Amino acid sequence: LTEEQLYRPNFHFTPEENWMNDPNGMFYLDGTYHLYFQYYPNGNKWGPMHWGHATSTDLIAWKQQPIALYPDKLGYIFSGSAVVDHHNTSGFGDETRTPVVAIYTYHDPIKEKAGKIDIESQGIAYSLDNGMTWTKYSNNPVLKNPGIKNFRDPKVTWDDIHQQWIMTLAANDRAQFYSSKNLIDWTYLSEFGQNIGAHGGVWECPDFFPMKINDSANTKWVLLQSLNPGGPNGGSATQYFIGDFDGKTFKLDPLFKNQLSKKEALWLDSGKDNYAGVTWNNSPSANPTYIGWMSNWQYAQDVPTETWRSSMTLPRELKLSYSSSEYKLISTPVTQLGNYFKETITKKNIVFKNNTILLKGDELDLSKSVIDVSLRNMKTDTYTFSLNNTIGDTLKFGINNKENFLFIDRKKSGIINFSNDFANKISKANLDKRHNSAAFKIILDKTSIEIFFNNGEEVLTEIFFTNQPYMNLSIESSEKDAEISILKANQLNIN
Ligand code: FRU
Repeated sequence: LTEEQLYRPNFHFTPEENWMNDPNGMFYLDGTYHLYFQYYPNGNKWGPMHWGHATSTDLIAWKQQPIALYPDKLGYIFSGSAVVDHHNTSGFGDETRTPVVAIYTYHDPIKEKAGKIDIESQGIAYSLDNGMTWTKYSNNPVLKNPGIKNFRDPKVTWDDIHQQWIMTLAANDRAQFYSSKNLIDWTYLSEFGQNIGAHGGVWECPDFFPMKINDSANTKWVLLQSLNPGGPNGGSATQYFIGDFDGKTFKLDPLFKNQLSKKEALWLDSGKDNYAGVTWNNSPSANPTYIGWMSNWQYAQDVPTETWRSSMTLPRELKLSYSSSEYKLISTPVTQLGNYFKETITKKNIVFKNNTILLKGDELDLSKSVIDVSLRNMKTDTYTFSLNNTIGDTLKFGINNKENFLFIDRKKSGIINFSNDFANKISKANLDKRHNSAAFKIILDKTSIEIFFNNGEEVLTEIFFTNQPYMNLSIESSEKDAEISILKANQLNIN
C-alpha cells in the first residue's frame, strides 16, 4: 500500500503536501468555515511559517486553498486568530464589504539568531473577500514586544458583555489580556497564570471565551491554555481554567481553584495528540466549535509520512458542565459527522470473556468508522479493546476500573521506532472513581483514534502508523461474564 492509501486520513484535514502544525484564524462567514494553519510549503518539517488555508461547508469535508499569508521582512507568520468585524470597527471595510481581520505573531528569525529577546510581536492583516486574499496592515506590528521572549499566538474575540475586543496572548509562563476598540490600538489589561496550573513548558496558543454552565443562562469564562512540554502523558497538551472576567481581570472560580488543589491541571484531552487547539470565530452553533493539531512536538517532525506531515483533530463542540461542585469541559465530535454515516451495525447484549472479536473487517471498514460501545454491570476490572491486523499490529485501549484510568497503549500499534517518546509509555486519563457502566465513542480514521468517554467527559486523541490496516476490533476482560449492553458501528461514506 502507498503512503496515501495507508495513512492519508479520510475525514480529518491534512495538507496535500508538506508540513502543517497549529490551526489558525478560524472563522465562519456566509456558509463557509475557514481553517488556516501553520504551514511550511517547501518541506515536510517545520520551517519558515506561512498561513495555509482550507475551507469547508460542514467542518468535515475540506478543500485546500491558496496560501493566505507569507512571511515578510518582519518575520515568519506564527499562530494567531481571525475575527469577522461586522461593525467595521477597524475601518478596513467599506459600504458593501465586511472586513475579516487576522491577528498573528511575527517571529523575527534574524533577531532570534542574534540572540535578541524582542523577537515576537503582533501584526494584523485584513480580507475583503471572505478570507480568500489578505492585505497586511501598513503599520505593523500593532503590538510591539515588551521584552518577553515568548510573546505570541494572539486569540482575539469580541467581548459583548464589556463591548471590547480582547486579545489573549501567551507570554512565557502566563496569559496576558489586551483590549481594543478597533483591532489596531491595543491596551494591556492584566495577566493570569503565574504559579497556577501546569508549568512543565512554555505557555502557547491560548483561547478565552464565555460559556454557558450546563446550557443555562449563567456563564463562566474559560481559558484554554496549551503548553509544551508538560502534558499529562509527555510533550504538548492543553489545560483549561474556569473563572470570571470583569472586563479587565480573569479570576479563577473558587470551586475550580479547589479542583486545582487536588490535581496539577485539568486537561482538555489526555491523549498525546491534540495540541494548540482553539475555537471558531463567528460560529453559527450555540456552543464553541474547536479544532486541534493532531500531533505532539515530541515526534511530529519524524512521523512516517513523507508527502505531508500532520492532520487536525475532528472539529469538536465544547460544553461546560457543572455538577457536584466541579466544572468540566466536555468535548463531543461535531454533529455534522453524522451526515456521513452510511451503514450502521447494531449488536446488543453481548456477554464476553477472554478475547472476543466485536467487529470484523468484512463487516465494516475500520479505517473510517465511528463505534459506540456501552459496558454495563462492570465489576472491578480492566476492559481492553484492541484493534488488530493479520501481521500482529495491535492498538490497545480501554478502562482500568481498579486504578481508575482510561488508557491507550501504542507499543505494538505499528511503526513506532521513529521516536522513543511515541510509544514508550501507556497514555492515561485519570478518572475520579470506579465506574459501573461506561460509554465509549471511538472514532477511527486510518492513523488516528479519538476516544470520547461518557459523552465527552474525558477524551483521548492519538495517532498511530500501522504496517497494514487494522482488520478487527476485539475486547477482553478477565471478569467472568463481562457485558456490553449495546454496540453501534457506523461506517462513514467519505474520503
Ligand atoms: C505551537 C507553536 C506556537 C507558534 C507556532 C509556530 O505549536 O509553537 O506557539 O506560534 O507553533 O509554528
